[in-house]
Amino acid sequence: MIKRCLFPAAGYGTRFLPATKATPKEMLPVLTKPLIQYGVEEALEAGIDTMAIVTGRGKRAIEDHFDVSYELEHQIKGTEKEHYLTEIRDVITKCTFSYTRQIEMKGLGHAILTGETLIGPEPFAVILADDLCDNTSEANGVLSQMTKLYKKYKCSIVAIEEVPKDETNKYGVISGEQIEEGIYQVDDMVEKPDPKDAPSNLAIIGRYILTPDIFDIIRDTKPGKGGEIQITDALLLQAKQGKVIAYKFKGERFDCGSIDGFVKATNYFYKKQKTK
Ligand code: G1P
Repeated sequence: MIKRCLFPAAGYGTRFLPATKATPKEMLPVLTKPLIQYGVEEALEAGIDTMAIVTGRGKRAIEDHFDVSYELEHQIKGTEKEHYLTEIRDVITKCTFSYTRQIEMKGLGHAILTGETLIGPEPFAVILADDLCDNTSEANGVLSQMTKLYKKYKCSIVAIEEVPKDETNKYGVISGEQIEEGIYQVDDMVEKPDPKDAPSNLAIIGRYILTPDIFDIIRDTKPGKGGEIQITDALLLQAKQGKVIAYKFKGERFDCGSIDGFVKATNYFYKKQKTK
């Protein structure tokens, strides 16, 4: 039912300078795979095959990554190295990719609105590639868990996890009533509140399912935290109409927008690969 996934990927990745000076942060690899490919594979696993990527200046490497490199194919064909390309070839054959550019950096809400032209009037998923998620053995990927939930609730969904109270200022934070195990009817959400103002310690992580009315709502959303147009503020309007649920996902999540999280993810996937 959810056919498209939007990837806001226009940010500068300043925390990873100088690595991100000429390389998009979404292309930083955890082991051998760039962050955005993990996201695309998660979307694919959820039955989504249309990827809509909001890029910006200096992000061309993303487009090249999801395309055939004829020179490389030619060099590697028939050699024992060919298997290195198997995974990415598989992704390229299974999905389509479309791109649009965000000209100005005006926040996540604005990035999502920029993607409207690639999405159209239908519910869609959003993945922030620097939140890298992996499924535990008993569950599918996070997005797959959320698309299943969408079939039941047919409203916007945000993925959440509990964070230490002193870290609420890094996230959108929700409050709400638990209506099923791990599922909340959201009644309030605040972008990056100080711990003392946070309505809970349930933080939004970079996985969303949004209903298309969100585009009109974003158009009317005034700049909020940091002077940026925040998706959290737009979602609050839907929440007030009882149209947002929050879902405590099953799985691991790494904040690869921070050096700490990136190193943790690398160690985690390295260990996982070694024990395969
Ligand atoms: C964005 C959102 C925030 C959310 C976070 C998840 O913030 O604005 O609500 O909790 O992603 O990663 P950013 O990390 O882009 O500053």
